[in-house]
Amino acid sequence: MKLDPQNIDQSVIKLAADIILQGGLVAFPTETVYGLGANALDERAVIKIFQAKRRPMDNPIIVHVADIEDVWVLAEEVPPSAELLMKRFWPGPLTFVLLRSELVPDVVTARLPSVCIRMPIHPVASRLISTAGVPIAAPSANLAGRPSPTTAQHVINDLWGEVDVILDAGETDYGLDSTILDLTCKPPTILRPGPITLEELRAVLGDVEVHPVAKAELTVEAAVAKSPGMKHKHYAPRAQMTLVEGDVEQIPSKINDLYSYYKGVEKSVGILATQETCDKYEAERVKVLGTRSNLKSIAKNLFKLLREFDDEGVDIILAEGVKPIGIGLAIMNRLRKASSLIVRVGPH
Ligand code: TXA
Ligand code: MG
Repeated sequence: MKLDPQNIDQSVIKLAADIILQGGLVAFPTETVYGLGANALDERAVIKIFQAKRRPMDNPIIVHVADIEDVWVLAEEVPPSAELLMKRFWPGPLTFVLLRSELVPDVVTARLPSVCIRMPIHPVASRLISTAGVPIAAPSANLAGRPSPTTAQHVINDLWGEVDVILDAGETDYGLDSTILDLTCKPPTILRPGPITLEELRAVLGDVEVHPVAKAELTVEAAVAKSPGMKHKHYAPRAQMTLVEGDVEQIPSKINDLYSYYKGVEKSVGILATQETCDKYEAERVKVLGTRSNLKSIAKNLFKLLREFDDEGVDIILAEGVKPIGIGLAIMNRLRKASSLIVRVGPH
């Protein structure tokens, strides 16, 4: 069902909220990516999310709220750092890991002692949650392992027949999943980099770390780049992806080398480039993520272009890396996780 986020039809929201209250599944837009929502307090409804996405049951789900007060209901303890950050960044694309209260069903948290909570700013998301009157558990609305959906069409492609209603309010703003910050440890630790950056969090809290796994650094030197089998997939297209990161001056020539190699073995190849470098390629299929001078543009297009290459049936994607600064850290996290091979060129 289509919705204009500037002029929301409350009857559509009411219909979707009723589905939530009856234990059904609603796919809905947020400012980051589309979510697949169910009543977070209804264990059976949440199990349907796992089935629809084919998500392993040991992977916990974020609980979405429309009112800051709900955090005190869902969390056992709300540290002062959470209050500071909520004031500064909520509603918005920042998710907290907090100790859970007894109200949160085991299936939501995969039996962890913590719960992930986020308050989205997208008007459709917040209206849906407040109309339903319950917190909504929602992972990204893609099949497990695939790139997160940034349009309703992506949800349709992955989950048609599995969802009771899909709310379509157009393309999402950020195009990248929220930042996840663990506040149950010291110092607070980013488990998944996202639109709210490490630099912004440090400006508020001082000491903030990035979990080593969140950096997803799994690099091989260019010289040994052909050794395969470094599987590390998530957010992944069907095509096999190689990420070339490091010195921007050297990236295009490395990608051109890889391109000739794959052409030689009759693979169809897509190149994921940037405005600054796209004219350095002669390949037929070059897609421009955005400009390096505005990494937000790259974040917004990343998942969409990965899915486009899949629709076009390419075998191989060769992707350029960006500087892991600001939202670039989140872009590199997704690119690295989606790649089966990472090649670094130039100085570290
Ligand atoms: O932007 C977003 O966060 C989107 C929209 C729909 O809100 N949601 C989203 O959910 O990306 P999902 O399930 O695709 O990713 C949530 C991540 C998973 O990697 C999960 O393992 C982690 O959050 N997570 C959930 N609960 C957790 C917990 N209690 N402790 C640590 N990690 C947790
Ligand atoms: Mg996801």
